[in-house]
Amino acid sequence: MQLSLISTITALMALTSAAALPDSDVGMSKRAMSELENRVDQVSITYCNAYNLQPTCETRQSGSADCVSLPNFSDQIKSVSVPFNTVCVFWENYSCQGTHTGTFGPSQNKGDMKNWNNRIRSYRCCAGTTWCGDGL
Ligand SMILES: *[C@@H]1O[C@H](CO)[C@@H](O)[C@H](O)[C@H]1NC(C)=O
Ligand SMILES: *[C@@H]1O[C@H](CO)[C@@H](O)[C@H](O)[C@H]1NC(C)=O
Repeated sequence: MQLSLISTITALMALTSAAALPDSDVGMSKRAMSELENRVDQVSITYCNAYNLQPTCETRQSGSADCVSLPNFSDQIKSVSVPFNTVCVFWENYSCQGTHTGTFGPSQNKGDMKNWNNRIRSYRCCAGTTWCGDGL
C-alpha cells in the first residue's frame, strides 16, 4: 500500500517536470502562473478597534477572494492595514452583503475608516493589485 503510494507520487513528480515549459514560453507561462497563484494565495490583513492601528487589533489570514465574516470585530473596526500585494473591500453586513466600501490597498494603512467606523461586518481581500472577487 505504502509502496504503491510512493510510486504514484514518483510518477506524478516525473509528469510535473516533463510538463515544464521550454524557455521560449517563459513570458506567457509566468503570467498564467501568477494569475493562478493569485487565485489560490492566502492573504492577511490587520484591523483594529481603535484609530491609527492601535490595540485591540487582529491579524487574520484568509483565502484570496474569500468572504470573511467577522466574529469578534463586527461593528468595531476603526482602522485597517492592507499589506503589499493585497486589495480589500469591506461590507456593512455579514457574508459580504449590502453596502460596501471601495477598494483599499495595496500597501495602505487607514488610520480612520471615517463613515465606516464601527460599521464593518465582513470583508474580502484579493492577492495581487487588482480586484479579483465578485459582489462589487
Ligand atoms: C475571537 O475571539 C475568541 C475569544 O477571544 C478567539 O478564541 C477567536 O480565535 C477569535 N476569532 C478570530 C477569528 O480571531
Ligand atoms: C444589512 O443590514 C441592515 C441592518 O442590519 C439591514 O437593514 C439590511 O437589510 C441588510 N442588507 C442585506 C443586503 O443583507
